[in-house]
Parts: sequence; C-alpha cells; structure tokens
Amino acid sequence: MNEREVVNLEEKLMANVYAKRPIVITRGKGALVWDINGKEYIDCTGSYGVCIVGHSHPKVVEAVKRQAETLISCHASFYSDARSELLQKVTQIAPKGLNKVFLANSGAEAVECAIKLARKFSGKPEIIAMMGAFHGKTMGALSATWDKKYRDPFKPLVPEFNHVPPDNLGKVKEAITEKTAAILVEPIRGEGGVRVPPNGFLPGLREICDEMDVLLIFDEVQTGFGRTGKIFACEHWNVVPDILCLAKSVAGGLPLGITIAKENVMSSLKVGEHSTTFSGSPLVCAAACAAIDVLVEEKLPERAATLGRYFKEKLEGLQARHKVVREVRGLGLMIGMEFRFDVLNVILKSMDRGVLILDAGRNILRFLPPLVIEREHIDRVVGTLDTVMEEEKK
Ligand SMILES: Cc1ncc(COP(=O)(O)O)c(C=O)c1O
Repeated sequence: MNEREVVNLEEKLMANVYAKRPIVITRGKGALVWDINGKEYIDCTGSYGVCIVGHSHPKVVEAVKRQAETLISCHASFYSDARSELLQKVTQIAPKGLNKVFLANSGAEAVECAIKLARKFSGKPEIIAMMGAFHGKTMGALSATWDKKYRDPFKPLVPEFNHVPPDNLGKVKEAITEKTAAILVEPIRGEGGVRVPPNGFLPGLREICDEMDVLLIFDEVQTGFGRTGKIFACEHWNVVPDILCLAKSVAGGLPLGITIAKENVMSSLKVGEHSTTFSGSPLVCAAACAAIDVLVEEKLPERAATLGRYFKEKLEGLQARHKVVREVRGLGLMIGMEFRFDVLNVILKSMDRGVLILDAGRNILRFLPPLVIEREHIDRVVGTLDTVMEEEKK
C-alpha cells in the first residue's frame, strides 16, 4: 500500500475520534521512527508516552517472539508462568507495601479497577479528583477526568465524583465527607499541561487521607516507569499511595494496564467482582518482564533524570531567545513548554523538519520521548524548534 491508500482506508473505515497527523509511520528503533517514504523523525511523543524503553527494543522483541511461539493467551482462571514472573517483577519495583496486582489492558482500565476497589474496600461511593485531571475515557475514568469537552457529550456520568482545585490541601480537606472513599490524583498532571505540584502537596494528601480514613490513589499511567527520573513519580516526594495505576509503557509497547494495591485493599475484591478476558496474557506479560529488565539494567530512570535536566536547560535557552515561551517545566523526560499562543503550527512545522512533538492543551508543547533518546537527538530537537520559532516570528 502507498501513503495515499493507507490514509484513505483509515479515513474511510476508522472511527473519526483522533486528530490525525498526516504521516504514515511504518518503522521505529529506539527514539527514531520512519514514515512510509523512508523519512526519519525523532519521536518526542513516544507514542503518547508508551515507548519508554524505545521503539522495538531488541530484548522486548526477543521476548515477544519467544513467547508467541510458546503460548499467546491463557485466561487468568488458569495459572501462567509468564504472568507469575511479571507479578513478581512488578511487586519488586513497586513502592513498598503495594503488593497485590490486577492486570488489565489500558490506563483507563487500571483506573476503573482503582475506582471499584476504593468503593468496595471503603463501602463509600465518593471519589475526589482534581480539576484539570485526566484519567481516561471509559465511563468511570471519564467521570474522574475534568475536561468538559470529553465529559459533556456523555452525561450522565458515574455519580459521586467531585473535583477540587489542584495543589490546594485546604480545598481537598473541605471536600471530604463521610461518603468519601478515595482521593484520585496524577502526581504530575500530564494532559492537563505537565504540571508538577508544589513540594508539600502529595505528602499533605497522604496525611489528610491517613487522618480522615480515605484511600489515596495515584494515577501514574503517564508518570510511571522511569519517565520522571524515578521508577514512580511518587518517589520524588517519598509518598506511597494505597492504590497505584500504571499502563502506557509497562509492556514495552504492548497494551497492559496495572493496578497495584495494598494487600488488604485489593483483597476486598472477591471472585467474579472484577475481571477482563485478556488479564495478564502470557504474550503481554513476557513483553512486560523484558521491559522491566531493560528499565532496571539500562538504568533508564537515572538516564531520564540526567537527560531531562539537559533537555530542560536547552529549552530554557530557547525561552530566553523567544519571548513567545511563557514557561518550561517538568521532571525527568516529562517536559512541558508553555507558549503565549496556539502551538499547532509549531507541531506541524517541526514534523515537516523531522521532529514529532505532542501538545497538552492549546498552547503547551509536551515532550515524552523514549528514555533511550540521545543527547544528539535532543540537540536536533532544540535546533529544529529554534528554527521553527524563528519562522513563526515572521
Ligand atoms: C494519567 C493518565 N491516566 C489515564 C490515562 C488513560 O490511559 P489509556 O489511554 O491507556 O486508557 C492516560 C492517558 O493518557 C493518562 O495520561
């Protein structure tokens, strides 16, 4: 198929729910992808944060090949060696005290499980989430998501979700009632503009939850797995939640959602009360085991911390040169660059010049590159942005 045929088929046959970029990507390696015409791009989208270990990491490829030849599917009502190995690896890297796991297929599903778990464990209905939060688009996760444009067409949503201003402990405390089961929060808001909370916020939430007997849920779907310079972003503040949600990158690019909880919390779910057909399929588990090995062996969180500082400094250099940049922020290789205007043109022009960048709202560029990205790539990204921003001035 040529480029036109691929585009035409997707346009004709696929639900029109994605804002498409006009390139057909056919190959990826590390931090690079190539389009159908052989043009190379530096991938600062990481497939929306999925490609932490890089595109087609050889260890993930090898594990998938090996497992595909052995056993691809095995329902969780049977035991599986690949699944048990993953459970062991996940609980070894998880924050201390989180040791019981539910496996699903996506970030939204990891959040759905957390919501059901909070209600079941506490016997209470209400979840407090943050204004500006993004937790996914299935009905439960959507009810915790803030943005009106995602929510309004689908009302009524799941009841008893209450949103409070972010980073404000007083407002959180005020919102807690005798019906509150849990507080759900992204340690760093991703879709909401790459917003790092003030230092006291997450420890303060932990204190409030302990004091008022409310569960604390961290959605680390975007921040987890080394992205911010630690395996989990909550480690920056030494705060352990009661329930942790993971997805995106945990299976090296294959679909996997993980909910990890304290044993007593997860044990409140009884046989049949929650399940999904693909829960912990051997193929995905083998890929995830390989991805965790790569994360640890290649010290990717440390790499994210070092390269993230380098990248941020370079972007701050651009901020000093171009008055259109309002702020550069983030942790590790999760970086946002806020402009004084709409960034769509910057994104499209950078793409023309071989750099893929995400947005996070109308005026914010978001960088979620694979953690295996090289300094030389970062230099090229910054050089490209410099040229594009210079052009935008004209
Ligand atoms: C913090 C957070 N939670 C949940 C989700 C939903 O994940 P998924 O798209 O895999 O359902 C996302 C997706 O971007 C996310 O960033």
